[in-house]
Amino acid sequence: MRLRLLAGIGLLVLALSGVRGTFGQDVNPLAGDVRAVRAGGALFRAQCATCHGADGRGIESIDAPDLRLMWARDGVDDEYVFTTIRDGVPGSIMPPHGLPETELWMLVAFLASQVEAAANAEYDGDAVNGRELFAANCAECHRAGAGGGGVLGPSLNGVTRRRAPEALTQSIREPSRQIARGFGPVTVSGADGETVTGVLKNEDAFSLQLVTEEQELRAFRRGGLRRMQRLEESLMPAFPETDLSAGELADLLAYLHENQ
Ligand code: HEC
Ligand code: HEC
Repeated sequence: MRLRLLAGIGLLVLALSGVRGTFGQDVNPLAGDVRAVRAGGALFRAQCATCHGADGRGIESIDAPDLRLMWARDGVDDEYVFTTIRDGVPGSIMPPHGLPETELWMLVAFLASQVEAAANAEYDGDAVNGRELFAANCAECHRAGAGGGGVLGPSLNGVTRRRAPEALTQSIREPSRQIARGFGPVTVSGADGETVTGVLKNEDAFSLQLVTEEQELRAFRRGGLRRMQRLEESLMPAFPETDLSAGELADLLAYLHENQ
């Protein structure tokens, strides 16, 4: 609150003196400005989406992180995001961006709006029905709430806080459109002809580890593999409306939202 006020005063001073420059702002002067968010979204799609994905969820194969998760980390605020975009991350492929300050703040406003959309979303489905749908259709691969569940897919605890309803709907209706980080599907074939499909958990120069479709953790030596192929299709089946109606989807999301 105090920071916001100070930045507000700072802006006023800047506006009054007509000077533009490197005033020490740690709060985005464009925060919540709808037009800035929209413009930031356009900039993001043009300059950042190739690495971070159209909705900022990151692209695993190039280690570009999900930009919605960073805000929860200690020390991450508007200013951190601003400077990171401007200066890049040395030693990584994240490049510096020599954009005007206003455009940098637009990007920050857009990124912040992505998490706010998730935090403020309302879920009015029937969570009790959602719990049954979850047990019948999803628990085989996912955990949510207190009950156990599978590990082929990510834990869905807190997922409605991290991702907006539209993004979650897309993940359920068309899982292959964007595959969650750390759950990239692969097939490996051993020298003995054995073929195993699973999600890739770890890899280094010598070995890799998968959780197989049967949900076992298995390690392979690269030297012992004939082939490793990254797959485009998620190991999660799609749930089109014919299998999961809009009402049922709303119930499921309400259940996930109750189980943070
Ligand atoms: C060529 C690929 C690439 C492009 C283009 C790119 N990034 Fe990145 N970005 C990365 C990678 C990789 C990292 C992770 C760097 C690291 O920490 O090792 C990253 C990190 C970041 C971080 C820090 C995330 C954190 O968790 O601390 C922010 C913020 C960010 N990028 C925003 C952007 C924005 C906004 C754009 C467009 C203006 C952009 N990036 C363009 C690849 C890219
Ligand atoms: C056969 C296993 C399987 C089943 C059944 C399954 N999923 Fe998944 N799910 C996965 C895998 C693997 C991923 C990670 C890859 C991806 O993003 O597509 C995933 C990803 C997701 C994500 C994205 C998570 C994130 O953090 O971004 C959501 C949301 C999701 N599943 C919801 C559901 C719901 C709801 C159901 C039931 C209607 C369901 N899943 C059924 C395997 C499954």
